Amino acid sequence: METQKKIALITGANRGLGLEIARQLGNKGMIVLVGARNEMAGVAAVEKLSQQGIVAHFLPLDITKAESIAAAVNQVKNQFGWLDVLVNNAARLPVKPEDQHNPSDISQELLAEYMDINFMAQVATTQAFLPLIRLSSAGRIVNMSSTIGSVTLTSEPLHQNGPKPARLAYAAAKAAFNMFTVTLAKELVGTGIKVNAADPGLTQTQVGQERPNANTVEQGAKPAVWLSCLDDDGPTGCFFTHWLNHETVNPW
Ligand SMILES: NC(=O)c1ccc[n+]([C@@H]2O[C@H](COP(=O)([O-])OP(=O)(O)OC[C@H]3O[C@@H](n4cnc5c(N)ncnc54)[C@H](OP(=O)(O)O)[C@@H]3O)[C@@H](O)[C@H]2O)c1
Repeated sequence: METQKKIALITGANRGLGLEIARQLGNKGMIVLVGARNEMAGVAAVEKLSQQGIVAHFLPLDITKAESIAAAVNQVKNQFGWLDVLVNNAARLPVKPEDQHNPSDISQELLAEYMDINFMAQVATTQAFLPLIRLSSAGRIVNMSSTIGSVTLTSEPLHQNGPKPARLAYAAAKAAFNMFTVTLAKELVGTGIKVNAADPGLTQTQVGQERPNANTVEQGAKPAVWLSCLDDDGPTGCFFTHWLNHETVNPW
């Protein structure tokens, strides 16, 4: 067993918000495990973090593959023995032309693909790491969500999600992920483990890079970082965003 420092696994941490969350958690003194499905990209991210004085390790992890998840759990178990923080960040973002669709014409294939990566795989990853998180003195699970997954906001005519009925696949998968957040938080009440959803807001990663009003990655990472470091009296089963500050509650 390597350490008594907090250990945080961030899935999809080779780029975008995942890498920034890893950087910010590393700067808070946590050992960060950079989950990535691509070895070269994962190792490059670890090198970048290490150059900034952060203790980081590459963890091969494709969240859609059961054998990859099982191998990652074993690696963390053997190297550290437990896990303090799991940030379920990896996802498929709606950046391709075919991602723009109406609910009336979306294909079953695209719907299934989004549900698989952005919902089913998140549940599988969390279930697999939960035994290690139960061994932490203060387990924190942070699920990266979006206002696009909020039924309340989407139903408001004037909200940015309101008039545009597109991207059902991404929205439905994030809404399902929100429900997982709430139900798991309830199941784990009394264990000390907190489960919350973080909304980074539109952020300048691949998806928001040409939008000048989008958050910087530093801003977008803040709700997830705050939720990863919650005190024992912090909230669970909630949905936080950056709008006013990172402690602003989103409607489900
Ligand atoms: N950016 C925004 O405006 C925004 C807004 C609201 C919510 N979010 C949420 O914030 C999170 C991060 O978004 P982002 O903008 O940083 O996305 P991104 O730049 O597209 O990065 C996505 C990450 O997920 C990884 N990934 C995808 N499928 C994977 C799989 N099967 N196994 C392991 N890793 C996988 C990617 O790896 P590869 O490099 O190998 O593809 C990449 O590292 C997502 O959950 C997203 O839904 C983002």
